[in-house]
Amino acid sequence: MAVRIGDTAPNFRADTTAGTLDFHEWAGNSWIILFSHPRDYTPVCTTELGAVAKLKPEFDKRNVKAIGLSVDPLNDHNGWVKDIEETQNCQLNFPLIADPMRRVSTLYDMIHPNANDSFTVRSVFVIDPAKKVRLTLTYPASTGRNFQEILRVVDSLQLTDNHKVATPADWKDGQDVIIVPSLKDEAEINRLFPKGYTTIRPYLRVTPQPNKK
Ligand code: BEZ
Repeated sequence: MAVRIGDTAPNFRADTTAGTLDFHEWAGNSWIILFSHPRDYTPVCTTELGAVAKLKPEFDKRNVKAIGLSVDPLNDHNGWVKDIEETQNCQLNFPLIADPMRRVSTLYDMIHPNANDSFTVRSVFVIDPAKKVRLTLTYPASTGRNFQEILRVVDSLQLTDNHKVATPADWKDGQDVIIVPSLKDEAEINRLFPKGYTTIRPYLRVTPQPNKK
């Protein structure tokens, strides 16, 4: 069954390039980006894993840990990691799950048989510290993902968890945000958003991002 937004992320034990782990235990109190890629020793996947490794400082700032997965065995992962490090000029600083029995891929519905019945598609799950799934994305094998976009979603989730706002199209950290339509009381709005707000329509009110100077 598909794993959807709001579900508790299913737990599993798996072999990874960083040893065997219990997913929930490994996740601890961090946000998690769990992502699958179709195969080892393939070009797009090589660039994706390099891109994720290079974003570690950005993940650390946001209390995020990344973990990748493919259905190839650990021996393949270990050999391929050397190629990733050489060609992408990085250290693979996050675990890669080896899922040859397709246990985790099946649990998270990462194999879409009408696309390919053997390999995982490019799935992404953002999971919060309470182990709730907060974002799901699915990309085809031919298209490498934009991991800046995934960071952008994490920024939005972390902001909107703490303030009564939502983020507009193409929003980036630091830009104006939208006051949630359910907030009606003017005194409360003035208290929560002391920098002021603009009413474009009664349901569309914008304010400077509340957690920025
Ligand atoms: C790739 O990562 O390059 C790739 C993997 C599977 C199908 C197509 C491309």
